[in-house]
Amino acid sequence: MYILGIDTSCDDTSSAILEDGKRVLSNIVHSQIKVHHPYGGVVPELASREHIRNILPVVKEALHKAGITIKDLDAVAVTSGPGLMGSLLVGLYYGKALSYSLSIPMVTVNHLEGHILSIFLEKEPPAFPYIALTVSGGHTSIFEVRNFGKYRTLGQTLDDAAGEAFDKVAKLLGLGYPGGPIIERLSENGRADAIQFPRAFMGKDSLNFSFSGIKTAVSLYYKRYREDKTLQESVKIEDIIASFQEAVIDVLVQKSILAGKSTEINTIVLAGGVACNSKLRDRLIDEGDKEGIKVYMPSPQYCTDNGAMIALAGYQRIIRGERADLSEDVMPKYPIEKLSSLQ
Ligand code: KG4
Ligand code: ZN
Repeated sequence: MYILGIDTSCDDTSSAILEDGKRVLSNIVHSQIKVHHPYGGVVPELASREHIRNILPVVKEALHKAGITIKDLDAVAVTSGPGLMGSLLVGLYYGKALSYSLSIPMVTVNHLEGHILSIFLEKEPPAFPYIALTVSGGHTSIFEVRNFGKYRTLGQTLDDAAGEAFDKVAKLLGLGYPGGPIIERLSENGRADAIQFPRAFMGKDSLNFSFSGIKTAVSLYYKRYREDKTLQESVKIEDIIASFQEAVIDVLVQKSILAGKSTEINTIVLAGGVACNSKLRDRLIDEGDKEGIKVYMPSPQYCTDNGAMIALAGYQRIIRGERADLSEDVMPKYPIEKLSSLQ
């Protein structure tokens, strides 16, 4: 069974061909970084126009790389939310047109379910249940994952997402976009303990996050830094960057471990674009080890937005008989609890 997975939820036009629900035959991602770079963040209007330009060539390339033709497709899985309205519309309506013209079933996928299940694209996925920490530019959430289609939100950010904090701090320091990879690279030359930026734990038992305070703290510190020559002699810009990264990682790691301990689930899966961060990956593995918690993470290509995770989540729904109605609309806000349970 060949499933075409499509994701146009934010600024990447992605499509993939998945065979029999596990083998990725192709996974093509057209990044829009160059388009949004001058603005230091994603410009929704530009993103949707770029998706319109790129969706056909990206699907064509995915089919070509997989060595199949459009007529070989058995089903199409497409993200219907959460995400940017205009971007989601491009993928969903392309999927509808394909499903109608080829007379193949379509299933709509919640983008977060894609991230939660992305670990199944790897050779040795964990057993259920597990805790999923999904950290990206749009989301920072902790889920309890009982089975395919069975999720419970344990905590989420009350303001900015962790990736958004990376992007905003990079913008205010004039580093470029997207901020995450740049901050990770520059942090290697900085002292992570140089500045104690605030860690918002929101109470010792809370699994919610807040990252807007740290962004403000970095902004205030940087303002003072630029005006203070003596401070500049003792603190490098890389020290500020590394200290910021350390504070974000501290919170993400501690909350994930807390989620594992409080639910007595000893498996954590890391997902989403921020999960590419090797410091976060290493710290979570180390802290997990100390608590007897095993940590799994997809390879970086499946951490950032991709069509393969959408095809995989879609496959699980298709084999259970789920089908999308062609009148279905996008859902820019699409809480995981709205998703139909599969078992
Ligand atoms: O999952 P993703 O590709 O798209 C969204 O759904 O948002 O995640 C993109 C986010 C951006 O905010 C980017 O700065 C962040 O992931 N990111 C990173 C790293 N690579 C990407 N954050 C920290 N460290 C990284 N190495
Ligand atoms: Zn994402």
